[in-house]
Amino acid sequence: MSAPTNGRLAGVIGWPVHHSLSPLMHSYWLRQHGIVGAYVPLPIAPENFARCVGAMPLMGFAGASITVPHKEAAFALSATLDEDARATGAVNTLLFADGFVHGRNTDVSGFAASLAEQIGTDAARRGPSVVLGAGGAARAIVVALARAGGGEIRLINRTKDRAETLARSLAGIANVRPIAWGNWTDAFAGAKLLVNTTSLGMMGKDPLDVPLAALPGDSAVADIVYNPLETALLKAAHARGLKTMDGLGMLMHQAVPAFAAWFGMTPKVTPELRDILVKALYRA
Ligand code: ATR
Repeated sequence: MSAPTNGRLAGVIGWPVHHSLSPLMHSYWLRQHGIVGAYVPLPIAPENFARCVGAMPLMGFAGASITVPHKEAAFALSATLDEDARATGAVNTLLFADGFVHGRNTDVSGFAASLAEQIGTDAARRGPSVVLGAGGAARAIVVALARAGGGEIRLINRTKDRAETLARSLAGIANVRPIAWGNWTDAFAGAKLLVNTTSLGMMGKDPLDVPLAALPGDSAVADIVYNPLETALLKAAHARGLKTMDGLGMLMHQAVPAFAAWFGMTPKVTPELRDILVKALYRA
């Protein structure tokens, strides 16, 4: 790509956003590539979102990462959408180019890349997979698993209606079977992969309590929570000798295509970057 790479700005829009690791990550890549630019946290309240995004191209921003609670609002104001944004109904990356706001979803490819790196795509390809949660993150992960060709995706959510709605809306893309929260025997029978997309297990939230002993011995466990890095779910999976994937991989991989779109260079997910983020998590 030969886009101009210097003097460009990007940032992460969230509410709140002070906890985000994205500025640290993108600033590291800017330094690595010798790009004179900046990536900043942008705390923007929902009622100001559209107005602020409208002004950003005028201020020299090449684009922005979008996090909670703005992903649906970003979807709504994008002039163009990529395939994964259309499939998930959510935009996590904005690109300002040619006078338009372009919306993309890189969470789908970010999860897929992290899965390939930490667990291997086989688990998803062989299926069935079990996904806990039915929010925005679950949608991205269900799309990623369906693209990997894993067959049945068992979706377990505290509010079963939400799981059923998600299953219906992704019916053309994924083979989703909603299962009631607590029916672990049905959900885990023959499963090859379990993915937690809920906020349970995150620092300050309730613990996630699932009977991991009911998972087959050749299955793998992924958690999109990265604070703490080793959640109780992953600790229990380790103790059983199962392959695991933590949430930091998805965070790093979803950022790669975004950085490339704004700054014109494709950055690398390296052990050094991971170390920097892990240290920041421990400091916090
Ligand atoms: P995101 O867009 O990040 O996925 P979300 O839409 O708020 O966030 O979804 C959070 C998920 O965590 C939901 O699946 C939610 O379940 P409900 O749909 O029943 O609300 C799940 N979740 C949050 N707290 C939970 C709890 N205490 N027990 C079980 N599930 C919980």
